[in-house]
Amino acid sequence: MLLNLTILPGDGIGPEVTDQAVLVLEALAEIFGHQLQLHRKNIGGAALTASNDPLPADTLQACLSSSAVLLGAVGGPAFDHFPNHLRPEAGLLRLRRELGAYANLRPAVCFPALEDCSPLRADVVHGTDILIVRELLGGLYFGQPRSIEGPAGSRNALNTMRYGEPEIARIAHIAFDLARKRRHKVRSVDKANVLECSRLWREVVTRTSQNYPDVKLSHMYVDSAAMSLVQRPRDFDVVLTENMFGDILSDQAGGIVGSLGLLASASIGGSVGLYEPVHGSAPDIAGKGIANPLGAILSVAMLLRYSFQLEREAACIENAVGTVLNRGHRTADLASSGQTALATPEMGHSVIAALADSGVGQAVPEKEKSGRQQCFPSVRTRRVQRLLDIFVRANCSVWKSSHRGWSSPPRLPAEVSFSGCATIVPRT
Ligand code: IPM
Ligand code: MG
Repeated sequence: MLLNLTILPGDGIGPEVTDQAVLVLEALAEIFGHQLQLHRKNIGGAALTASNDPLPADTLQACLSSSAVLLGAVGGPAFDHFPNHLRPEAGLLRLRRELGAYANLRPAVCFPALEDCSPLRADVVHGTDILIVRELLGGLYFGQPRSIEGPAGSRNALNTMRYGEPEIARIAHIAFDLARKRRHKVRSVDKANVLECSRLWREVVTRTSQNYPDVKLSHMYVDSAAMSLVQRPRDFDVVLTENMFGDILSDQAGGIVGSLGLLASASIGGSVGLYEPVHGSAPDIAGKGIANPLGAILSVAMLLRYSFQLEREAACIENAVGTVLNRGHRTADLASSGQTALATPEMGHSVIAALADSGVGQAVPEKEKSGRQQCFPSVRTRRVQRLLDIFVRANCSVWKSSHRGWSSPPRLPAEVSFSGCATIVPRT
């Protein structure tokens, strides 16, 4: 399949984690025989610096004419005092709106190997598997009017929370449909004891639920939901909520499962899907090569699942991430004292190694199968070689471009094996 993507590395740790996510995608495409067309464009602060616009026309055009968009992160302290429309975040919000991406899916899963990384007790986080469905194009983020006005010392600031019935119904449908593929539970989170928007939200969600008698709907106020999330995270299946509450609760969910660096997201519902890690630009660690690329890598899995229906490929990436964590590989955000923390590219390489080890090379493209069920060794070997080339290229480019703070070049995995067919030790 042809995967035609726009890559928006953005700001802060965005480029570092996106590099690794793209390498994993290249390796996966190699293994499964997909063809990649990648167009890299500026967004956010990087675009402001280059062309004084956080979402330049050619970036938007590229996004609209590709099949999916992978984004790193936007924002940074250098832009904190810029007017609202010239902030990096304004570029991202405009992009979400232009793509019509109203449904933001944010899974928060506690990997078994990471139960001890959570600030909560392992028996509390064990089995946590939450999908936050956040409305992405409404509420306070986009409501008009908005302003800061008045003379210095007595200015007034105004934001508007606004929701229409069709807007609520369409995101509710997404949540109920997704719940049907999971544990059949939707918890709608609002503040209906105070806000009109939330009262309408509750009414429309309840009405929509009548189309889904097999899904159990419950409602919860956002303050109470915040508490329950840390007390009993396992009780939550699909969490359906409006834009601002979803922003806040998804960061909390990241903390619960061990690190915000693990969380991926998909923003769908419009013409082109947008995929990004939840963590943001993290300026405090940008350029140090220590960011966790797993949120970006898992965003690639979501991209394959939701924009291309490549479920098997998506699952391969998710399994590879599970494998590296089971093998004890940790970036700094996950390492406990005494554990060695991997650099960003080392974690990316570990995921590629786990992909290669997993035997997914069995998935030979149809044209190469020619009646055989098994991969023919020479085909397999060629593919392994190309995979290793990706390692080596990554190793060189990453080392050249961003070795600040490292005392030695990133290590390559000691050995890459392709189950049963070939074992090749990479060149160093
Ligand atoms: C997120 C981020 C964004 C948001 C910012 C960068 C605009 O925090 O995706 O969670 O608030 O939606
Ligand atoms: Mg956020």
